[in-house]
Amino acid sequence: MDNNLANVIRSKIDIVDIIGERIPLTAKGKNFFGVCPFHDDSNPSMCVSREKQIYTCFSCHATGNVYTFLMNYEHLEFPEVLKYLGDRVGVIVEGSKYSKKNTKFDKLYEAYNLTAKYYQNNLNSSLGKEAKKYLYNRQINDEIIKEFGIGLSLNKKDDLVNLLTKKGYDLATLNNIGLAVDDYDVYRDRIMFSLYDITGKIVGFSGRIYKDNNQNKYLNTKETAIFKKGEILYHYHIAKEECRLKKSVIVMEGFMDVIRASTIGIRNTVALMGTALTKEQISLLKRLSNNIILCLDGDSAGVHATLSIGQNLFDQGIEVKVINLPDPLDPDTFILNNGQESFENLVSSVINFSDFKMLKLRENVDFRSDEEKANYINSVLEEMTKITDEIRIEVMLKRLAKEFDIEYNTLQMRLYSLKKAQNTPKEMALPIKKDVKKKDKYVKAVEQVFYFMLNNDWVISQVEKEKLILAEETMRNLCSEIIYFYKQNGFINTADFYTYVNDKDDILVLLNSILADNYNEKTTKEELNLYFKVIKDYSIKQEIKRLNILMKKEFDPLQQALIAEKIRKLRIGE
Ligand code: CTP
Ligand code: MN
Repeated sequence: MDNNLANVIRSKIDIVDIIGERIPLTAKGKNFFGVCPFHDDSNPSMCVSREKQIYTCFSCHATGNVYTFLMNYEHLEFPEVLKYLGDRVGVIVEGSKYSKKNTKFDKLYEAYNLTAKYYQNNLNSSLGKEAKKYLYNRQINDEIIKEFGIGLSLNKKDDLVNLLTKKGYDLATLNNIGLAVDDYDVYRDRIMFSLYDITGKIVGFSGRIYKDNNQNKYLNTKETAIFKKGEILYHYHIAKEECRLKKSVIVMEGFMDVIRASTIGIRNTVALMGTALTKEQISLLKRLSNNIILCLDGDSAGVHATLSIGQNLFDQGIEVKVINLPDPLDPDTFILNNGQESFENLVSSVINFSDFKMLKLRENVDFRSDEEKANYINSVLEEMTKITDEIRIEVMLKRLAKEFDIEYNTLQMRLYSLKKAQNTPKEMALPIKKDVKKKDKYVKAVEQVFYFMLNNDWVISQVEKEKLILAEETMRNLCSEIIYFYKQNGFINTADFYTYVNDKDDILVLLNSILADNYNEKTTKEELNLYFKVIKDYSIKQEIKRLNILMKKEFDPLQQALIAEKIRKLRIGE
């Protein structure tokens, strides 16, 4: 691939801007630090270097340039990132040359797109009158129908299957991708919602009944290679930009809630499509914003889900907030009943998760019973052990003391002993160490030389002159790629070299390991020679080892003597 264009575009972009638009960065010295989006963390372990135009996470060792960042963060292919960045800096990226390579899933996506169009047409046809009426009744107008790609599956047994087989899909495929079951249409007579993956591609459907019948309210596409319900959040691809602007993400249960909120201009929302939250969805949420607001249904199932999801997020160091809806409304019905302004008021009166929990603790307590009262106060204090803000603690203790007429000191002492009881086992637990392979002196020397090469042209020619023999194939490959890159381009820098080796997995692994370490950038000729010596000594030692084995296997005394002589020469450095 022609890397020149990639290098030109990269040189016009500042990686600090691109990453900074996506995760908050703080300047520290020459570098910028933020919470790494590629592993579970709440500490700022990702370092972004403006000078080198690369990022490195000291914890999970993710590293790369602006292209790899966007590819991993936005789940894009290289040509898509190139196009995106090209557009930003006004460099035209020709479609054909960099057009996306055909992925094995392209046919699949195409099937879903065709299906979505077919469903949308149905809804607008004369067969869609009753469904339209249902939607209008629910205050879903044509504009919303269009925006969210809402459609209709017909009350026929093989309409879609016929359409798609005519387009060249075989029945086995259609069964496989969840559009047919036993060779017949899966969805019949349902209002169809397209489900999107995080890049905005349709990956499945959810069909809702709209007449009184005894079927399941929603029917979702089964799990396929590209549709994993636990790995997507509805509306993510739209919410991405909005969450950045609003600096928060609102989590709802159903897509009707998200669609309704959108009609009143609130678009920093995603739907769980159920009430569980998976690990993958948590990391998606963290990418949208570190200000996560739960706005689940106000019924008891919703409160229950809020408590468990909130706790889950809280335990991972995320300060969750909660919008408390009145029982039994969901955001959709609340907005319909009370209007935009009331909902906006609710949003602006979000409460902390711990306050929400205490609010829920209060419900059903009979304060006339001393025992229940004491239990309540104890569980509030238990909750408070998780709060670190000392001023908030004081405010809360004062309120408790006043409300229940208990000495402030008594409460404070109790809180203190609860905290202590919780902390002891934690302190005793051994810190979990990452399983990082220790690098020996030789590996360190080789890696340090590579790092010098990436940062100083002159070292490259020195290395070439030395004719170093490197122990591992990946090392040899990296070494020759650096030399080759320099010869081709007449310059070297880590960020562009990164683009160049992007499809060479073994080299990338080594390069990442080097960049995640703490090697020096500048060197002198004398110092460089010391590193060369370590590398050469090692290869001599290896060669002597090899010859010794050879000698042991040799029966001819003359040959043995020749090998012994070779070993002797190596030992004295000839
Ligand atoms: N859901 C589902 N299967 C069901 C019920 C619900 O997959 N049988 C998912 C859907 O994604 C739905 C979400 O759970 O959007 C929330 O469920 P619910 O609150 O019952 O749906 P609403 O969004 O309120 O839908 P509606 O207003 O149409 O009843
Ligand atoms: Mn609901």
